[in-house]
Amino acid sequence: MSTSFNPGKGEGQPVGVAVLGMGTVGTDVIRLMQENADAFEARIGGPLALKGVAVSDLDKPRPGVDPALLTDDAHALVERDDVDIVVEVIGGIDYPRELVLKALKAGKSVVTANKALVAAHADELAAAADEQNVDLYFEAAVAAAIPVVGMLRRSLAGDQINRIFGIVNGTTNFILDAMATTGASYEDALAEATRLGYAEADPTADVEGHDAASKAAILASLGFHSRVKFNDVHCEGITQISADDITAAAKAGYTIKLLAICERLTNEDGSEQVSARVHPTLIPSSHPLASVSKSFNAIYVDAEAAGSLMFYGNGAGGAPTASAVLGDLVGAARNKVHGGRAPGENTYANLPVADFGDVPTRYHIDMQVKDRVGVLADLATRFADAGISLRTVRQEEVERHEHARLILVTHQAPESALAGMVERLSELDDVQQVTSVIRLDG
Ligand code: HSE
Repeated sequence: MSTSFNPGKGEGQPVGVAVLGMGTVGTDVIRLMQENADAFEARIGGPLALKGVAVSDLDKPRPGVDPALLTDDAHALVERDDVDIVVEVIGGIDYPRELVLKALKAGKSVVTANKALVAAHADELAAAADEQNVDLYFEAAVAAAIPVVGMLRRSLAGDQINRIFGIVNGTTNFILDAMATTGASYEDALAEATRLGYAEADPTADVEGHDAASKAAILASLGFHSRVKFNDVHCEGITQISADDITAAAKAGYTIKLLAICERLTNEDGSEQVSARVHPTLIPSSHPLASVSKSFNAIYVDAEAAGSLMFYGNGAGGAPTASAVLGDLVGAARNKVHGGRAPGENTYANLPVADFGDVPTRYHIDMQVKDRVGVLADLATRFADAGISLRTVRQEEVERHEHARLILVTHQAPESALAGMVERLSELDDVQQVTSVIRLDG
């Protein structure tokens, strides 16, 4: 780390800002920065001066922005002498990585909303920021307006975090909620989420769980002071969830949510590991997360001394994301004016990431079996032989009695034991179909 102290530009000095990208978020960042210029100046101790906006298409109309500020040369903009802080709201990984690294190496503080970039390259970016003694802020990368990054970095820095879990993707929550409450089709709900500006440029990142996995990696890294990268996160999206799954879950008193679950795990020998996963999850409909509707996000944090905390709010969309970006911008600008820098990430604990197969999970298994005497006892024995304890077993009447519907809920067991059990079940003569397998939490 650089030992040079940033003395600050001094009270009243302008802070030069470059914005990279003018999509949904960038447009709101610039609008709010201009609308609140006086308040921001008072909070910072000097005015924010917009020095340039990098866009890919110079011909596109950009109402509210002085055309002289627009440039398609982002590389030159991030190194300009009159720029103190670079705001990156482009998205993607490789191109913004080049620009952010260039900006940090040129001594600019960086504010980014880019979860994919941070989840993949946090080490490299943090090292570049440390080297130059500048700030690297990314509050908007997780759950937009909910200040969960700052809460983990600062407010809970004196506690031990054991578990972070919740809904961190607005688009998929919007889709699952619409399918459950209005009976909307998956396609219509996704189109509406895209129209409302919640979805990523390529909504595959949302529906396949990649966006949530990036956020889980960031939360786990901050919460457990260990590096967890995107590729360390087990990730399943919502594309396999059908309207029937949602209806069956509701009938049984459950709601399906795409959850990110980050845990500190203690091994038998007392050593610790961490895990981060994203997958559709059944939660009891009475659980507070079940009532998180539309594009809202909600995150639970279980901490040793603080106990259980819940954070809820707007997790997607232009203005909520811009709110988080601007909070970071004010913080970075204060440091440019008054000197110093915010505390960076600290991965001192360096806990290893557990193999997903070893992570304890619970399964809800819905299957169709032959309606013969003894089938239930036989299946229960197989679970017992595999060391998996069943919490509930329910048999439902089906028309014409040609088969029986069995719904099994397990207690916690290692993921690999549960997955292996399901594989063996589907090969049995008595099991006509394993209709759905969804993990359960809460
Ligand atoms: N596409 C993201 C979501 C935007 O739906 O949550 C916020 O990261």
